[in-house]
Amino acid sequence: MTSPPVTTDARRAAETLSRGGIVAIPTETVYGLAGRVHDEAAVRRIFAVKARPLSHPLIVHLAAGDDPSRWGHINDSARRLAEAFWPGPLTLLVPRTPLVPDWVTGGRDSVALRVPSHPATQELLDCLDDALVAPSANRFGHVSPTRADHVVHDLGDRVDLVLDGGPCTVGIESTIVECNDRACSVLRPGAITSDHVAQVLSSPLRGDDGDSRAPGMMKSHYAPNAVVLLSDTVAGARRTAEELRNAGRSAEVLWYQDPGEYAARLYERLRDADARGLEIVVAVLPEDEGIGRAIRDRLAKASAERDWP
Ligand code: TXA
Ligand code: MG
Repeated sequence: MTSPPVTTDARRAAETLSRGGIVAIPTETVYGLAGRVHDEAAVRRIFAVKARPLSHPLIVHLAAGDDPSRWGHINDSARRLAEAFWPGPLTLLVPRTPLVPDWVTGGRDSVALRVPSHPATQELLDCLDDALVAPSANRFGHVSPTRADHVVHDLGDRVDLVLDGGPCTVGIESTIVECNDRACSVLRPGAITSDHVAQVLSSPLRGDDGDSRAPGMMKSHYAPNAVVLLSDTVAGARRTAEELRNAGRSAEVLWYQDPGEYAARLYERLRDADARGLEIVVAVLPEDEGIGRAIRDRLAKASAERDWP
């Protein structure tokens, strides 16, 4: 696999997209594989490059200056959340408008919208007269990329260009909140927690039951080649890793005391384990609060038995 061109020039990325190309872009959460929303051929190529089923709809990424109500029906709750958290790691799932093509939503009547805060991608979006779809820039079912070289490694020249914006600061995918006439609910936990969301809304949140309604959030996702074991305590994880090494296996503990750092480094560490051929990662589960909930969610998926083709 040949390496793709890599640039830090957002205008060059905009030109490639305007010519019908697909470009890996940095966001504050993870790198995305972008194409213009109304460029059907580019969007179809993104599904193919990722080996992603067409039934898994894509997030539409908007410029900070765009009007989200062109794309989706933004009710009072959604508007408040957008005002509080955009640009930032929040995706709003709302009823779509006719501007959103079927090839983005898989024919669903909803659309996922997000305004990313990464400055290079904001500049890129400002150069375009369309929004961008951008699923995480990894092969389907694998660990999301948090650095440009992760994308180069995974996708090579199947992408036309990589816009290098440095390491992602959040490190795990955006929080997805569904807002419709009935209620709001968190479908995918992230750096913006359900407490943050509840604080902004006057109406209460519906329970987290995302697995049933957002496709692409199957039990096993975000999985490295290494086996991931989970431990509730640091001491327990160290003991397990020690026992495994004594039994002749290669095993390491994965843990950061600071949950923000844990999230930022999680995928990089799982990828690094694979690069070194490590057999087993023993990950310590952080407290189930704040961003810790999202880390636990991704670790559970990384440790689940694989259920993709
Ligand atoms: O942080 C992020 O959100 C990253 C960066 C690149 O923005 N993107 C990302 O995209 O994580 P992706 O495609 O890997 O995950 C998007 C999730 C999928 O589970 C997808 O099924 C769900 O959002 N989704 C998108 N549109 C939807 C819709 N209309 N209805 C239900 N689920 C939807
Ligand atoms: Mg993904």
